[in-house]
Amino acid sequence: MKPASKKDILQILNDQKEIFGDDLFITKDELLSKSKTEMVKEKKINYVVEKIETSKLNEEPVLFNVNNDKISAEKTDWQLAGTLDNLNKLICNCTKCKLHLGRNKFVFGSGNPDADVMVIGEGPGAEEDKQGLPFVGRAGMLLTDMLKAIKFERDDVYIGNIVKCRPPENRAPLPDEMDTCLPYLIKQIELINPKLILCLGLIAAKGLLKRKESLTQLRGKIFEYGSSKVIVTYHPAALLRNPHWKKPAWEDLKMFRKLYEQV
Ligand code: URA
Repeated sequence: MKPASKKDILQILNDQKEIFGDDLFITKDELLSKSKTEMVKEKKINYVVEKIETSKLNEEPVLFNVNNDKISAEKTDWQLAGTLDNLNKLICNCTKCKLHLGRNKFVFGSGNPDADVMVIGEGPGAEEDKQGLPFVGRAGMLLTDMLKAIKFERDDVYIGNIVKCRPPENRAPLPDEMDTCLPYLIKQIELINPKLILCLGLIAAKGLLKRKESLTQLRGKIFEYGSSKVIVTYHPAALLRNPHWKKPAWEDLKMFRKLYEQV
């Protein structure tokens, strides 16, 4: 292969800058190692990213630091996704935490990408893992009814989870699994920009709001997450186990609807 000229390299850098802004990514193939070393020395580039074949778009790009060691990216492709579909394509083969080992399907989330209301659960269960969709099991049926009771159709809202792969034996996701997966949810929230978020259960509330209080302490209050207002209520699976909580959950839902009408 003919080595790239300095002019070619500058052209590549300018093209990359247009796409990525000041975080410059350049493919390994596109850069002569001599020029790369020079640019790294001059601090003109931070990372070198391996060329991503179209067929590999679902995989994370591999980044190298200035010493040519593989590193995790500060701004990878998925963070630059402009649509939910694109984000899903870029993250659906994620292997960042051990939950991927037991995954049948990655459960990205579903619903209206322009929703005013986002509903956040804990993580996929058996049925969700089978279908690749959130809240499609028994708890999901109850969630559909809960939403209907406050005049929302499932398709009006966007439904997501704190973790996108099923924890084994329906255990709660572990803190490191939640922390690893949370940036994906944050990106979803950024793309949807909902006015209101309903957190279902303590795991969802803790995961998103980083609060330490109990569910009882978190209920009945309005929190803020970026420009979205957040209300916390019981997880529908908890309501199936303990129907006595349905009455207080109904109070939360009415409060949520009232807030929706105000914002
Ligand atoms: N429980 C959750 O928290 N999320 C789902 O998607 C299904 C059940």
